[in-house]
Amino acid sequence: MLPRARGAASGAVLQVLDGAPPEAVDPVAGPDGPDDEQLALWLLYALHHRELAEVDEVLEWDPSLLGLRRRLEGPWEQRLRDRFVGPAPPGDVGEELFELTAAFEGASLSSYVQRTATLDQVLELLRHRSLYHLREFDPTAWVVPRLPARPKAALLELAFDEYGGGDPRRLHSHLFARGLRAVGLDETPGTYVGEAPTEVLEQNNAMSLFGLHRRWRGAAVGHLAAFEATSSLPSRRIALGLRRLGLPEEIAGYYDEHVMADAVHDQLACRLVCGSLVAEEPDLRDDVFLGAFTCLDLEARYAARMLGDWQGEQRADPGVPA
Ligand SMILES: [Fe+2]
Ligand SMILES: [Fe+2]
Repeated sequence: MLPRARGAASGAVLQVLDGAPPEAVDPVAGPDGPDDEQLALWLLYALHHRELAEVDEVLEWDPSLLGLRRRLEGPWEQRLRDRFVGPAPPGDVGEELFELTAAFEGASLSSYVQRTATLDQVLELLRHRSLYHLREFDPTAWVVPRLPARPKAALLELAFDEYGGGDPRRLHSHLFARGLRAVGLDETPGTYVGEAPTEVLEQNNAMSLFGLHRRWRGAAVGHLAAFEATSSLPSRRIALGLRRLGLPEEIAGYYDEHVMADAVHDQLACRLVCGSLVAEEPDLRDDVFLGAFTCLDLEARYAARMLGDWQGEQRADPGVPA
């Protein structure tokens, strides 16, 4: 399933994944732009997940690959910091997070899916979304041991739902896999990385970055809060769009699950997880809001890209009114 290289950095990682000795990684290889950087990082993070099951597991902690990862992460982390217009608001953390997510203006993919998207466009969206939904909650789970008691307990209450409440058939990643199968797509994690645009890779990489580094624990829970607070209503719109197109109940059901669940998860994440973390570690306030902003910003970038592509396709099709 290995994708094609997008430049020197992703090419160097792919060579190692394909069997070349890690010490041979060129210490100054690339990246050749953000697309190459994000694919290389996605591959390096995937060593900590389940997508590269065929690759030697020892590579997960190989010093040459970890060194390359740090060299790629540094400039990218600076870009994430530069995009965030701080400082964080001084008021109640939960209220301010709800305010941030409600006031954020970005393109909406869910409204487009509800009313306008074609079957091909929806299938493309599902392939892109599969990168995260097939590992749903996993990158955030890494933050659990880094949290004090109150935010940790609240996060695990939320995680229990994401992981099926004790029932392996109810894991959100499993519900999405079942939906993919029902629409004729491949449920193997990582299958569609080769066609993922930079924006999708960056969304997934941000969650892995925040989850894997203890110093980013504030951003990890802030990202989760924004994710949950922008899920319930869009999930309802997407379920309506999937049914408009006659897609199977299995995939619409994945989104139905999130209409109800995320109306509770957003309260848990914003008020209890983030609120109690900042109460105990006030210095993390800016990072919590940086994480929330990053979630919203990366989704807006992805939505703008896809709507640009899709509306361009429709304008180019003489059978579709502009
Ligand atoms: Fe979920
Ligand atoms: Fe959720």
